[in-house]
Amino acid sequence: MATNLKINGERLWDSLMEMAQIGATAKGGVCRLALTDLDREARDLFVKWCKDAGCTIRVDKMGNVFARRAGKDNSLAPVMTGSHIDSQPTGGKFDGAYGVLCGLEVIRSLNDMKYETLRPIEAIIWTNEEGSRFAPAMVASGVFAGVFDLDYGLGRADQDGKTMGDELKRIGYAGEDDVGGRPVHAFFEAHIEQGPILEVEKKKIGIVQGAQGQRWFEVTFIGQEAHAGPTPMRVRKDALVGTAHVIGAVNKIGLENAPFACATVGMINSSPNSRNVIPGKVFFTIDLRHPEDATLTKMAAAVKSACEEAAAANRLEVDFKEIWYSPPVKFDANCVAAVKKGAEELGFENLDIISGAGHDSVYMSRVAPTAMVFIPCEGGISHNEIENATKDDCRDGCDVLLRAMVERANAA
Ligand code: GLV
Ligand code: MN
Ligand code: MN
Repeated sequence: MATNLKINGERLWDSLMEMAQIGATAKGGVCRLALTDLDREARDLFVKWCKDAGCTIRVDKMGNVFARRAGKDNSLAPVMTGSHIDSQPTGGKFDGAYGVLCGLEVIRSLNDMKYETLRPIEAIIWTNEEGSRFAPAMVASGVFAGVFDLDYGLGRADQDGKTMGDELKRIGYAGEDDVGGRPVHAFFEAHIEQGPILEVEKKKIGIVQGAQGQRWFEVTFIGQEAHAGPTPMRVRKDALVGTAHVIGAVNKIGLENAPFACATVGMINSSPNSRNVIPGKVFFTIDLRHPEDATLTKMAAAVKSACEEAAAANRLEVDFKEIWYSPPVKFDANCVAAVKKGAEELGFENLDIISGAGHDSVYMSRVAPTAMVFIPCEGGISHNEIENATKDDCRDGCDVLLRAMVERANAA
């Protein structure tokens, strides 16, 4: 590999900081929920930058944006990279945006160096990776990979009943291209680690081997609304008390399957949410994760039992739905090796790592050889406005990505 292949770290950082202005929060983070006006603004900026870099832009029916830099032989399948620009409600500047802007920076740097790859290169924004406004996560890369059909993807609705299909039209990103169904030579994604391991181990680059599995559930408990004063404790049907039992059980299931299990209740809507009314209805979500499928399945069974027990003990009706299952994945050995080689050539201390978070790479790995590059983030904190990464680590991760992509993009 040519030793002079380098990206421009200052330009990458400036682009990250400019993108972070769109939806910037007072605490230094980002709130840019999928398919909002802010999402449109961020997409427009990316598209403008990519056009300025000479790319052609295509948008598919799920609103995924593909910026293509031509290669020597454009009949060959492209090497792709990308991530997402939607964020959590109290998200950070780097989760997703880093990977998207690394794609742009790779293209800009190849232009600067007048470096022509054999294959075309594409930098991508995947729609709604977070799964915060519209569940599940990674839904549009999932449609691209054939895991979900298009109608399912477009039909995902937010808490107000607005669908992804309608919101894509509203913001002008309901594209015309079919979703997926075209060959991809390799897919790479750069991302902050979102956990503490690289920082604790003092390593610069994570060579991501795969990602843990996830199961998402939606539970509704129906009890009976009643007056908080005259209604004796023993006759109550308190849906929030049932939920409290489940929250405790979910946490215990996570702890019992240590060290790798994660189990979270992250969203609760209690109704009518009035201090002197016994809660008659509660909707809540459960997120379970584990790198081994068998353990994840066992955890799911335990969570279901906990919901049934809580319902019986509190005289509640229960609606328990598994809405998403994403099995653990192992990334492609050749792509992982390309990332490792890039890190080694640059002399970066690196570590093999499994992703705890979900990423579009998880679904892309079903249709293309895939790997990821992780960089450390401060204190391992992510999905938080204080999320932070250093300028140098951002630059170095992108340099590794550049090398891995160029290696694959020159392969016949
Ligand atoms: C996405 O960020 C997830 O891992 O939940
Ligand atoms: Mn992300
Ligand atoms: Mn995220």
